[in-house]
Amino acid sequence: MKFAERMNRLGTESAFEVFAKAKNLEAQGKNIIHLEIGQPDFKTPINICEAAFEAMKNGYTGYNPAVGIWEFRQAIAEHISETRRIEINPDEVIVTPGAKPIIFFALLALIDSGDEVIYPDPGFPIYESVINFVGAKAVPLPLREEVDFRFRIEDLVAAISDRTRLLIINSPQNPTGGFLTKEDLEAIANLARDRDFYILSDEIYSRLLYEGEHQSIISFPGMKERTILLDGHSKTYAMTGWRLGYGIFPKPLVEEMERLIINSNSCTCSFTQIAGIEALKGSQDSVIQMVAEFKRRRDAIVDGLNTIKGIHCRKPAGAFYVFPNVKQLPLSCGELADYLLEEAGVAVLSGTAFGKYGDGYLRLSYANSLENIQEALERIRIAVSKL
Ligand SMILES: Cc1ncc(COP(=O)(O)O)c(C=O)c1O
Repeated sequence: MKFAERMNRLGTESAFEVFAKAKNLEAQGKNIIHLEIGQPDFKTPINICEAAFEAMKNGYTGYNPAVGIWEFRQAIAEHISETRRIEINPDEVIVTPGAKPIIFFALLALIDSGDEVIYPDPGFPIYESVINFVGAKAVPLPLREEVDFRFRIEDLVAAISDRTRLLIINSPQNPTGGFLTKEDLEAIANLARDRDFYILSDEIYSRLLYEGEHQSIISFPGMKERTILLDGHSKTYAMTGWRLGYGIFPKPLVEEMERLIINSNSCTCSFTQIAGIEALKGSQDSVIQMVAEFKRRRDAIVDGLNTIKGIHCRKPAGAFYVFPNVKQLPLSCGELADYLLEEAGVAVLSGTAFGKYGDGYLRLSYANSLENIQEALERIRIAVSKL
């Protein structure tokens, strides 16, 4: 079969591929500890599930407005206004099935072939994939271990050209767990205003921060007009399979987004949006407990990795990933990830799955029980000692 030429430019997310490979090994009877997949291992809080059942019983089962149910958009606007300390109106909020479509639709609406888009490397692989898909030039912004996986301002300045249309940032970050400081964001805001480009600020991990306070570029003067803020319920409320995300958009883009949605998924599921209101307005105890548990696991996995010869791991401030440096080991990071899966039954991702600057690193997700993390660390220690 002959495919459209554009399909050659569409990438993928290798977490799903490694997950499938690990599942295959499990089907053959092998015991696997999953540290590859990026989703909380907690159940969706029961008050959110109950709100969904109630909504279904009350008839929230049909189509609804393409950009989202007004009451949910209102709840999101209130939440973002409060957490980002800036006035957001409900008609600037767009609801999507998961946060991923915000990336896809924003680039489709904004970027022409020949435009340049700067994205973090290592970074969420979907950015580079979609930039290439829309025919733009993907310009990587290296994140550096020596500055806790932030970028160096001179690297950003060097990446900007007259064709730069968009900069994608992600804080707290996948895959490194790093986060951008107020000073970083200030520098970006100054450059965006001076050089006239937009920002896609991926804040899907905004609530999963263990030190400091989450800062958003949208709060900086003059930045609301040039920022698309992405957030959602997948990670914060353990709702990855519900598909519930949203974006805050500059007003002129809202109508364009609406047309893209009408032409593709029509709308986001009705009863999940009603449950999404309960998530934002109901008790936040489960989020607080989940974050405390993630922090405990982060400390355990970082400490454990740092006792293994040839592995060095910084302590990340957020998300639920660590990105240890494995450059001293005799295998490439891709070979090491394969070796750990086959030899030790521990599924991890190669740093190169997140871009060329991820070479020499692994990504481990600590969205798994402390007991499994300890067992995985022991298995890695034994496997590495045999190299
Ligand atoms: C950085 C980043 N952005 C966006 C997403 C997409 O989230 P969702 O599952 O809500 O589509 C993910 C999910 O892994 C992510 O890691």
